[in-house]
Amino acid sequence: MLLLPLHRWVWKNPHRRARKLLVFAETEADGGRDLARAAEVTTDPLLRRLYLRHSVDERRHAEMFRHRGETMLKALSVRRDGLDANWFAPGERGLDDLVVEADNDPALLAFLHLSERAAATRFAIYREVLAGDPETQAVFTGVLRDEVFHMSYTKKQLERVSPRRHGLKLWAARLHRIWKAYLRVATAVAGVMGTLILFVQYFVVLPCFALAAKRAERRRLTGDSLRDAPGWTARTDRPRTLRTQY
Ligand SMILES: [Fe+2]
Ligand SMILES: [Fe+2]
Repeated sequence: MLLLPLHRWVWKNPHRRARKLLVFAETEADGGRDLARAAEVTTDPLLRRLYLRHSVDERRHAEMFRHRGETMLKALSVRRDGLDANWFAPGERGLDDLVVEADNDPALLAFLHLSERAAATRFAIYREVLAGDPETQAVFTGVLRDEVFHMSYTKKQLERVSPRRHGLKLWAARLHRIWKAYLRVATAVAGVMGTLILFVQYFVVLPCFALAAKRAERRRLTGDSLRDAPGWTARTDRPRTLRTQY
């Protein structure tokens, strides 16, 4: 795979590796909570059992990632260095976007299937590049086994609950994921643009105005523009009367 060296670089730094595992733990725990909610609202008994098992799996993954991340952080100094690169190696992304509604099992299963498939592909890559850290690699091996099961049960159940429209549901979920990815990129670009515009305002535009104001003040003090008295001054050449305000 072309991006393998980049993944290797992302996971090489032990500080970054530990922090990423803790971020993954948050995503998995969040997904576990949403799946427990899905088990509550579904009216299908088989799906309820599967969602519950899925929820327990995601909570276990959260614990595995958290435990490994904390163990690594304890063994390392607290020094923070480098980027986390979460945009490039995001873990089980999709679980964080889960929308659980009643009577919405086909859409939920389609979205879960695509998210789990993407997660399984990513975790297989992470496992491969972590050859130098067998303990973290073992965590990914355990998690990957469950993700493959999640990927296959969601597909099978989608075909069961929506035998005619499962293809359509998958396309709708795909478009939703593309839209979410676009929003993520657009937000990141907007953040960079905002920083750039503020930088130019503070360090280019404002200094120009400050310079112009200084020069104008200097001219005024040296008598170049004595005709323009600074600020508001009361006129004294008008007759004073109490009948009008002017
Ligand atoms: Fe997971
Ligand atoms: Fe999963």
